[in-house]
Formats: sequence, structure tokens, C-alpha cells
Amino acid sequence: MTITTLMQYTIKLISHTQAPLDLLLEADPSVEKINAYLPHSHCYAAITSINQICGLYVLTPHSSNTIELMNLAVYPDHQKQGIGTTLLKHAIQTARSRHYHTLTLGTGIFGYQLPFYQSLGFTPTYSIPNYFLNHYSKIIYESGKQHHHMTCLSYSLE
Ligand SMILES: CC(C)(COP(=O)(O)OP(=O)(O)OC[C@H]1O[C@@H](n2cnc3c(N)ncnc32)[C@H](O)[C@@H]1OP(=O)(O)O)[C@@H](O)C(=O)NCCC(=O)NCCS
Repeated sequence: MTITTLMQYTIKLISHTQAPLDLLLEADPSVEKINAYLPHSHCYAAITSINQICGLYVLTPHSSNTIELMNLAVYPDHQKQGIGTTLLKHAIQTARSRHYHTLTLGTGIFGYQLPFYQSLGFTPTYSIPNYFLNHYSKIIYESGKQHHHMTCLSYSLE
């Protein structure tokens, strides 16, 4: 018999200085890019009952109307337990409560992330060819396949 223990966690606004770099790098492998957006972003973390961060998301305002989900990550040993879904729904609520009209994000054109975002209401709007080749010094792989292009998605908060 398999016994599954559901982990308890709460989602809290944290200072960007508290965001663990190793977790941020799970979603965005560029330290330079992270350091560029993090200081002027809103960072929320899922924190366990023993006060450990198990996941986070980062929202970066671009204008008075538009805010972007720049980072969403859950530590590998906590994935597939619903934390990412809860964080993404929380991000939508946060963006709405801060009176933005549109929540955007960018992701690869293949992989489980794209259907994950679409299942929660994000719609692909346009693609940027060779984005990952042109903007990252490291090659980004997903299940052994190289990412080249980025899909931009948006969620209407109105
Ligand atoms: C994307 C991510 C935040 C999802 O977090 P999570 O806690 O695993 O999410 P959930 O448990 O709510 O699952 C969401 C969906 O993703 C799928 N999923 C999660 N991890 C997966 C994995 N490693 N491989 C395949 N599918 C995966 C789940 O099966 C689920 O799909 P379903 O609803 O059809 O069953 C997490 O996988 C992660 O941190 N990945 C690495 C960083 C990353 O890619 N971030 C997004 C950048 S665009």
C-alpha cells in the first residue's frame, strides 16, 4: 500500500533577497537575467511548516497594465504535488489584486510547461524565433531536446 502525505505550505510575499538562487535557476538558467529582474519584482514563496521554501514565483511589472510571470519554480523533490498549480493560481490572483489587466509569460514551444499554462487559462499570443539561442549563453535542454524558440502567453485579468 502506498501512503501519500500531503505537504502543508503557505504562500507569502518575501523580499527578493530571500529568494533562493538555486530555485530561481530551475526555471531560468541565467543568473544575469535573474539579477536584472529580481530587484524590481514581487516575489512570493510557498513555505513549508518547517519554514523551508519549496517553490516560488516572481512577477515583474512592465507597465501600469501588464505584469509578467518571470519565474515559477518548485524544487524537484516537491514537484507533481500541486504546488506549481497553486502558485500559478496565486500569481493570477496577485496580478489581479494589484489591478493589472494582463499577465504574460514566456516559455518553450515544447515540454510539459506549455500545456500546464494553457490548462490554467493562458493563451499563446506570439512566438520569438531563436529566443533561447540569442539570449542565453548556455544551451537549454528539455528531456534531451534543445529549446530554440519562445512562446509568449497571456492571461486576461479583466
Ligand atoms: C513547472 C513547475 C513549476 C510545476 O510545478 P509542480 O509543483 O510540479 O506543478 P503541479 O504539481 O501543480 O503539476 C502541474 C502539471 O505539470 C506536470 N508536471 C510537473 N512536473 C513535471 C515534470 N517534471 N515532468 C512532466 N510533467 C510535470 C504535472 O504532471 C501537472 O500536469 P497535470 O495537471 O496534467 O497532471 C515545476 O515543474 C518546475 O519547477 N519545473 C522546473 C522549472 C520550470 O520549468 N518552470 C517554468 C518555466 S516556464
